[in-house]
Amino acid sequence: ARIAEQTRLVVERHATTEGPLLPILHEVQEEFGWLPPAALRTIAEGLNLGRAEVHGVATFYHDFRTEPAGRHRLKICRAEACQAMGGERIAERARAELGLDWHETAADGSVTLEPVYCLGLCACAPAAMVDDRLEGRLDADRFARILAEVRT
Ligand code: FES
Repeated sequence: ARIAEQTRLVVERHATTEGPLLPILHEVQEEFGWLPPAALRTIAEGLNLGRAEVHGVATFYHDFRTEPAGRHRLKICRAEACQAMGGERIAERARAELGLDWHETAADGSVTLEPVYCLGLCACAPAAMVDDRLEGRLDADRFARILAEVRT
C-alpha cells in the first residue's frame, strides 16, 4: 500500500507535464531503488496507459530495474578511455568471477553488475563505481579487493 501511495504522489506531481512517463519512472526508481509491480500498476492507472505499455518501457531502458538491486552495485566503465587502459579485462573478470552478466544480480542478493559509459574519471582509467564510491586506476589487486567487498 505504501508503494502505491508514494507512487501516486509522484504521478500526481508529473500529471500535467508533457511526456511524464520517463520522469515518473526515474523518480519512483529513485524512491524505491527499483520499480516494484505495484508501482508500475499505479503508474499505468494514473496515466491511463496499459500495464503492458508501462512495463514495456520499464524493461526497454537498462536504467530501469524491474527487480530489486543487490546490496552492492558494481558499475564498470566500458567507454573508450577505460577500454584503452584495460577496462575490458576488468569487465571480463567481474563477469567471470561474479558469474553475472550485465544488469544481473547475484542469487544471494549481494551485488548487481552494471556497465557504465564514462564516469568522468578518464584520466584515472580504468574506472569503476562501487555503490556510490568512485574507483580509478584499477589494477588486479585493487580490483580483487573490490570483488571481495561486493560479495559480502
Ligand atoms: Fe571510463 Fe571516462 S571512459 S571514466
